[in-house]
Amino acid sequence: MSRITIQDLKRWKQEAHRWVCLTSYDAPSARVLAAAEVPVVLVGDSLGNVILGHESTVPVTMEDMVRHAAAVRRGAPDLFVVGDMPFLAAQISDEEAVRNAGRLIQQGGADAVKLEGGGPRAATIRRIVEAGIPVMGHLGLTPQNATQLGGHKVQGSDPRDARRIAEDAQALEEAGAFAIVLECVPTQLAATITRNATVPIIGIGAGEDVDAQILVFHDLIGWSGSFKPRFVRRYAQVEETMIEAVRSFQEDVAAGAFPSDSESFRGSQAGPPSDGIHFDEERQTSG
Ligand code: KIV
Repeated sequence: MSRITIQDLKRWKQEAHRWVCLTSYDAPSARVLAAAEVPVVLVGDSLGNVILGHESTVPVTMEDMVRHAAAVRRGAPDLFVVGDMPFLAAQISDEEAVRNAGRLIQQGGADAVKLEGGGPRAATIRRIVEAGIPVMGHLGLTPQNATQLGGHKVQGSDPRDARRIAEDAQALEEAGAFAIVLECVPTQLAATITRNATVPIIGIGAGEDVDAQILVFHDLIGWSGSFKPRFVRRYAQVEETMIEAVRSFQEDVAAGAFPSDSESFRGSQAGPPSDGIHFDEERQTSG
């Protein structure tokens, strides 16, 4: 699949073609998403929780984001990759925001960046866009300031908050955002924003009446322990499969059933490594 463009996403909105975006933080998961022809991949700062084991996304640094974006790019050279701006990467000054967004593009190989926050972030988004970098907005529950929002809970439930989020969406669009993530808002509010916006609205916990859906890859495949918010549907139980595999390996080793002859190198059989497996010759001879 060739890399999609922002123009494709705009056209999909007009055609009411629904699409998905998934997170990825490393080369192997990026390879999976490329094979499944996922059009847009987000290297989210959720890597703080999902990969680095932090309690929140706040400790994630620009270095983390650049390193993981570059890994995703190596795993999927043809995907449209969005790199997340971590906590404070865009809040200190517009100059710093442009510089950090530029790092995600230049060093991380991303096609675009994502930035959390409403109206007050619009001027920063405009500056980044003017610098030639496409920006995806993020409204509703914005995990970087979850404490200010009263925790990880639905946003926009009362009419005043709902109006503010709708106005923020308009401000981000006017500032040049090419798409907006809407996280944990009531279905009706998301539907109204989606109807009024000319850019794609990507929902997570925002109901079905949006242009696209995003989920964290590890939640979708069942590799997030007991963490399962209401808006997640698990399409696999990968964690259980992995535990089973590791248990089976331990059992085989304990029973002397691993390795077999065909998995060993004995005397004259010690020929070249078998099909498709990357093998370092030095390791073969020194081992
Ligand atoms: O960091 C992230 O993964 C995100 C998505 C869940 C929207 O922001």
